[in-house]
Amino acid sequence: MTDDRPLTIALSKGRILKDTLPLLEAAGIRLLEDPEKSRKLIFETSRADVRIIIIRATDVPPYVQHGAADIGVAGKDVLMEHGAEGMYEPLDLDIAKCKLMVAAPVDAAPIVGRVRVATKFVNVARRYFAERGQQAEVIKLYGAMELAPIVGLADRIVDVVDTGNTLRANGLEPTELIAHVSSRLVVNRASMKTRHAAIQAIIDVLAEAVAARQ
Ligand code: ADP
Ligand code: PRP
Ligand code: MG
Repeated sequence: MTDDRPLTIALSKGRILKDTLPLLEAAGIRLLEDPEKSRKLIFETSRADVRIIIIRATDVPPYVQHGAADIGVAGKDVLMEHGAEGMYEPLDLDIAKCKLMVAAPVDAAPIVGRVRVATKFVNVARRYFAERGQQAEVIKLYGAMELAPIVGLADRIVDVVDTGNTLRANGLEPTELIAHVSSRLVVNRASMKTRHAAIQAIIDVLAEAVAARQ
């Protein structure tokens, strides 16, 4: 079966776009304009058979899962939160590296009983505390999690940490590592079958480009 629609790759603005574009160049895929300077959401590339859509980082898994994008790049944190249904995860791109951590106010006393946890990663947090047999009330936030313990909304947060500067600036410290995070290539399961040659060729070139950087 052939498919004449352009192959659609889903990326998000910011660090994923910045770090993925040089890898895509190895596959001859270059954007024809700069998405950081445009309000457009769909971008043509130097390859007529490939287009790039720019969406929120947390929206990449649903677009790929439902086949609106054939390929995407998403952080492992976002994939752990969303789940991997309908997708393959064939390649670790080794970009946007950070850690998913529990953090607490500096020198906080241990919590006896139920801990209040603020995070945008509610599924990850629920799973993590449940696995440890610790009762947790998980409060969903969409950003600035570091504020929550300062103003008494939560006892702990679950967030990504790189340098630790954001935690430090807000009187917090990392206490537990949940997972090492980097961004992954994800592929829609049906696309992997119907457009196998084109997608496998991109995976292979990206894998080479990733290996060449190490
Ligand atoms: P968002 O708008 O969702 O915050 P980002 O571009 O900041 O989007 O994050 C995209 C991905 O990059 C995250 O899912 C995570 O995997 C990773 N990431 C987030 N913050 C950092 C950081 N400070 N350093 C390195 N990687 C990060
Ligand atoms: C991310 C994340 C943390 C911070 C951690 O924010 O949400 O706040 O990085 O990095 P650090 O340990 O080096 O301080 P980001 O820079 O993506 O800004 P955002 O709030 O717009 O997501
Ligand atoms: Mg961010």
